[in-house]
Amino acid sequence: MGIKIQVIIPAAGSGTRLKASVAKPLVLLAGKPLVVHSLEVFQKSPVIHSIIVVTRRGLIGRFQALAKRFRISKVVKILAGGATRSDSVYEGLKAVDADTDVVAVHDAARPLLSAEVLSRALQLCRKEPAVIVAVPVKSTVKKADPKNLHVLETLPRDVLWEAQTPQIFRKDILFRAHQARLCCEPTDDAVLVEKMGVRVKILKGDDRNIKVTTRTDLAVAEVLLKLKGKLR
Ligand code: CTP
Ligand code: MG
Repeated sequence: MGIKIQVIIPAAGSGTRLKASVAKPLVLLAGKPLVVHSLEVFQKSPVIHSIIVVTRRGLIGRFQALAKRFRISKVVKILAGGATRSDSVYEGLKAVDADTDVVAVHDAARPLLSAEVLSRALQLCRKEPAVIVAVPVKSTVKKADPKNLHVLETLPRDVLWEAQTPQIFRKDILFRAHQARLCCEPTDDAVLVEKMGVRVKILKGDDRNIKVTTRTDLAVAEVLLKLKGKLR
């Protein structure tokens, strides 16, 4: 208790692989814009103080209207993002309140975050500097030479985890990690923190927390939302 937690939602991507007529976070999913599903989960969490959304400059007005319409009163800032996901998160990070202790980063493209997983991850961040939600890898993963696709190695599955979001950090650590940027093309925030030598703890989440990337993912997300509460 007593710690201030803010959320950054990177939603400034171009949704190239989804090939939709509107921006990916605004695509309708079970009757609501995709981004609203996860915004509602953060809105309802009693330990979340507020939310910063990072989007494309031209969509700021749309997001303002959306927060109002769906009564996501915790959205306090809507900012323009950058060229890469990591640039967008950094823009959000610079807008975090001075007295915030912990920052949670969650992809707009993951509408199936459950309140239970969020709550367990937020609990863990009280004693860990960095917590990421991840799931055990289900497939056999091969490392291959990109030039000829010859397999170089089969990776040991029992130590492999698929990183998801949310990823939750002590603010000063995430800020320093983004400033140092010890990884050329970071695809999540944790990798920057790992490179700084900070311990990153995994919270086992669930495989329904998919990232909507393609049309197939969108269809799967629709089904998973309908089944919510009926699985497991
Ligand atoms: N993102 C962002 N700023 C960027 C690129 C991505 O805020 N410059 C966000 C996306 O909006 C998304 C999350 O990062 O919520 C994960 O990115 P991804 O799934 O790759 O979404 P897009 O980049 O929009 O999709 P694509 O790569 O197919 O264009
Ligand atoms: Mg992308």
